[in-house]
Amino acid sequence: MKKILITGATGFVGTHLIRHLLDINGNDITGTFRSESSRESFEFKDKIKLLKADLETLGQVEAVIKSTKPDWIFHLAAQANVPESIKDPISTFHSNIDSQLNLFNALIKLGLTQTKTLLVSSAEVYGYVNPDDLPVDEDTPYRPANPYAVSKIAQDYLGFQYNLSYKLPVVRVRPFNHIGPGQQPGFVSSDFAKLIAEIEKGITKPVMKVGNLLAKRDFTDVRDMVKLYPLLLEKGVLGEVYNAGSGKSVQIKEILDLLLSFSKVKISIETDPAKMRPSDIPEIVADVTKVNKATGWKPEIPLEKTLKDILDYWRARV
Ligand code: GDD
Repeated sequence: MKKILITGATGFVGTHLIRHLLDINGNDITGTFRSESSRESFEFKDKIKLLKADLETLGQVEAVIKSTKPDWIFHLAAQANVPESIKDPISTFHSNIDSQLNLFNALIKLGLTQTKTLLVSSAEVYGYVNPDDLPVDEDTPYRPANPYAVSKIAQDYLGFQYNLSYKLPVVRVRPFNHIGPGQQPGFVSSDFAKLIAEIEKGITKPVMKVGNLLAKRDFTDVRDMVKLYPLLLEKGVLGEVYNAGSGKSVQIKEILDLLLSFSKVKISIETDPAKMRPSDIPEIVADVTKVNKATGWKPEIPLEKTLKDILDYWRARV
């Protein structure tokens, strides 16, 4: 039985990953969480071990690693929201970089240099991609468009460097946008779906305020994405990095139109200048040749189903 540690276990991706890991076999899973409220509402609180930890504090990370001695770590805990990083870059850097360093340094200090870590970077590292470089492969130059992207470059390169310098078994993944039920507001499909659900219930008047609809992103259902993560620790080459996405680019307007087509009421659309970012990547789409070759993974859930499920998630909650 594999001993697995998941940081940020009670979050959006953590919850879906744990459901998948519990489905595939009887892993021994420990998860970290930060706030009591996230533990209280956590679906799997009786199915896995949970440890409260502030990953920005080395002593707390060491205590978690010492008590779990994991074979595998999925390091998911992060500040993942782009607008939040623009508002508060320093907290984003601390959250994303300090936690990664503490995790690696704790493993080295405790002599657990066989523990494999999946380091979750981001497609955001590529940023303002030169249109000639689309779809982006793993060698595309970094042109970050916000502090979150810069924090992910640092985190990503720490994985590269600790693998080279200390032979830590790290596999890096650069996921493109992954969405699904359970994602918090602050991400485009959740923002749109929550508003539609509120309008359907009469909580909000039937006008949706939206941001930039022209941007294009590569969307994958989170339930597909989490299937890749254990495959990467099994089959990925240590020290290597893998893009993960659908390989298709979809305009944000299409996400909105699809969600509106499922709506039970008529809704008008207004652009909200407050939702426009000071800089926004116009288009990004993944070249997924490397990850397909290494693992055989391909996303399966159609975008329409993902969006319907997100809308139903919010309909059950607003
Ligand atoms: N959040 C949000 N809310 N975005 C909007 C809205 C809105 O009401 N209206 C338009 N957008 C546009 C944004 O300007 C952006 O161009 C696009 O929708 C997607 O925004 P997000 O869902 O916030 O995602 P992101 O692309 O900035 O970043 C996500 O993907 C990365 C990987 O590619 C995040 O999930 C990151 O954590 C992740 O690393």
